[in-house]
Amino acid sequence: MDETPKILGGVALLGSGSSIPSQRVTNDQLGLRVETNDSWIKSRTGIRSRHVIGPNESLTEISQVAGLKAIQAAGWDPESIDIILLATSTPDDLFGSAPQIQAHIGAKNAVAFDLTAACSGFIFALITASQFLRNGSMRRALVIGADQLSSWIDWDDRTTCVLFGDGAGAIALEATNKDLDGLLGFEMRSNGSRGDSLNLSKSKKHLPLIKDISHQEGSYMPIQMNGQEVYKFAVREVPSVLQKLLHKTKTDPKELDWLLLHQANQRILDAVADRFDIPQSKVLSNLSHYGNTSAATIPIMLDEAVRKGLVKPGDLIASSGFGAGLSWGAALLKWQGPS
Ligand code: UT7
Repeated sequence: MDETPKILGGVALLGSGSSIPSQRVTNDQLGLRVETNDSWIKSRTGIRSRHVIGPNESLTEISQVAGLKAIQAAGWDPESIDIILLATSTPDDLFGSAPQIQAHIGAKNAVAFDLTAACSGFIFALITASQFLRNGSMRRALVIGADQLSSWIDWDDRTTCVLFGDGAGAIALEATNKDLDGLLGFEMRSNGSRGDSLNLSKSKKHLPLIKDISHQEGSYMPIQMNGQEVYKFAVREVPSVLQKLLHKTKTDPKELDWLLLHQANQRILDAVADRFDIPQSKVLSNLSHYGNTSAATIPIMLDEAVRKGLVKPGDLIASSGFGAGLSWGAALLKWQGPS
């Protein structure tokens, strides 16, 4: 085989997959644990239920399942994959869970590593993997977004526990000619100076080591969030970054087939769609079933839409991820489907 890199310049989105943990928790069930109710949660967020990883499941396992479905949909041999990126903030192993996924799916020729950017993780990973494909150094990439925020929520804090859920989604990407490019443009942003609005921080506790020396305990605090600040950030920055993306790619919002936003709150989805005059029929939303699954929301939603036949080959999708960091970004995608 010719090993000389071929710079094709484009990247095709060929296959998708997702996996949802089996345990489902409804709003009414959460009301048994904290002082909340279905009507408050539904009206303020659009969420009706979420799924939580149980004792016989794991983040690595659902990521593998999602990844394998994407590979099957693309019609690939796992050994043909060059890179696996796992976007997650909640790996089973802090050294990285992607290599376990690589081993289990039999992608023995792929390099595999984790990428952490909270709810922007999937968009950032998709853009990152695409660079290797565009520049000719790699041909096939599997990008997975997966999170298990259920492990890091304070289940007695009603202001956060009603929002989040667990899940995994994946997309299979392949280098292609520039004229078939499926990543038509992208934007990425961070603002660490406002990062204290949403954190999953390491415990500050120090334990004695010897004499005057201490070491920091290896554990994390539950998720802390200023919901209103994050809400305001999202409804300001997401339209702004999408506007920039559409301007740079010379795309009229009317040309879009779908708006695919990080599924955090239906009110955020509605506000962004209104801003661009995009009708509800073009706004992809499944957060009523799963809540906010962090890095997984975008690929789970895309996979469901592809499998339902909503998203079709050639469809133009404006996508945006946003969340902790603070971080946010957007990508203009064209779905290709298996070739
Ligand atoms: O990936 C990014 C992750 N984060 C986000 O996207 C979060 C963005 N923010 C939001 O989605 C919204 O700010 C929330 C859904 C978190 C909160 O909605 P809100 O409309 O901003 O409510 P609020 O925080 O202003 O609270 C209104 C009231 C308060 O009561 P008082 O002070 O008015 O008496 C809260 O104590 O609702 C109360 N409340 C609840 N009541 C029942 C807060 N949480 C709950 C609850 N059930 N779960």
